[in-house]
Amino acid sequence: MSWALIPLTEEQQEIQRTAREFARAEIAPHSVAWDRDSFFDRGVIGKMGELGFLGMMLPEEFGGLALPTTTYLVALEEIAAVDASIAVAMSVHNSLPTQMLLRWGSDAQRQRFLAPMARGEMLGAFALSEPEAGSDAASLCTQAVRDGNDWVLNGTKAWVTSGSEADVLIVMARTDSSAERRGARGISAFVVTPDLPGFKVGKKEDKMGLRASPTVQIELADTRVPGGNLLGKEGAGFLMAMQSLDNGRLGIAAQAIGIARSALEHATNYAGERRQFGKPIKEFEAIQFKLADMATRIAAARALLYQAAAAKDRGEQITQYSSMSKLFASETAMWVTTQAIQIFGGYGYVKEYPVERLFRDAKVTEIYEGTSEIQRIVIARELYSHSPTR
Ligand code: CAA
Repeated sequence: MSWALIPLTEEQQEIQRTAREFARAEIAPHSVAWDRDSFFDRGVIGKMGELGFLGMMLPEEFGGLALPTTTYLVALEEIAAVDASIAVAMSVHNSLPTQMLLRWGSDAQRQRFLAPMARGEMLGAFALSEPEAGSDAASLCTQAVRDGNDWVLNGTKAWVTSGSEADVLIVMARTDSSAERRGARGISAFVVTPDLPGFKVGKKEDKMGLRASPTVQIELADTRVPGGNLLGKEGAGFLMAMQSLDNGRLGIAAQAIGIARSALEHATNYAGERRQFGKPIKEFEAIQFKLADMATRIAAARALLYQAAAAKDRGEQITQYSSMSKLFASETAMWVTTQAIQIFGGYGYVKEYPVERLFRDAKVTEIYEGTSEIQRIVIARELYSHSPTR
């Protein structure tokens, strides 16, 4: 089965092979147990760091591979096809904290964090949401108050992927609550490390899927953050978060495509082996049509994603394409995994076979880094903005 409609370069094929072999050797043997036990294996993150998978788009001066976005997404799809939990840690780390530090970090911040992050010695997380501020991210109410040279943070961040394992978190907090800056413009971004006083990992979510990826609350109680840890300009935190999510959503799309592809591969193999009414079920048109539609949607999702990634690397604004990619890929993953379970029949509904986990893992791609409804809002808004998709 060919993987990409758009031909991959030799370098991309090499990275794809490396990622696939790594995932099959180092991750696949453990995925069922990690999912069952809700266990995050930090060791595998270290190994991914050694391969360069945690600094894929970082410049070489920070120990990164300086690869184009598409190449990173090719690798991410391979990891996701085997274990979507490990893939989301890779996606968040590569797309959000490392890119935010690279783009808006001071020299001191870049020097301190980027090389260890590229090596996988430091894992990054992104803390925007709160218990009462999800889709409406601009309503967040974690406070950051200036005190001498420091900032003092108070509040609870929620749904933080890798939050309990992270060595560096980009935390969005409100630095201005005045009436005119109550919304998006009163938010700033901070580089927070778990050693800071008052930093505590709170509730760990007991999730339906992505069980090997820890999703936690982060409690900040009078957490004193040095002034040098403000990231970018005061008041620019929401914009930085939104611009970063434009990149993050490409990673979630690649993760969703990996999940969907894996479901298609399992379903294709199963349909070739499973016999009913005296022949393999792949010979029934009902099954063929499902497999054909699954493959078509995956190919379309990947083509859209690679176009969005190419536009990003050309320096274009990709807000709309990014949302389209994430929306289409995540709904594809949910639909494809549903069909895969149907093809497996009763065997699809039990944990003994892999499609049950893929189905559970697919669901969250329609929710995090912006729900499908939010993606549709973003897409529709862009239709009326100055830069419509042509
Ligand atoms: N790029 C650049 N600027 C952007 C932007 C983007 N993608 N999106 C918004 N902005 C700018 C706007 O232009 C606006 O600027 P001005 O003040 O100059 O006009 C400002 O930001 C405020 O934007 P909006 O008026 O559009 O703000 P809004 O309150 O209406 O919200 C939203 C817009 C699209 C709904 C946004 O809140 C959103 O994306 N919500 C979903 C949040 C989300 O994805 N959360 C996931 C968190 S991460 C996670 O899931 C867990 C994890 O660990 C991975």
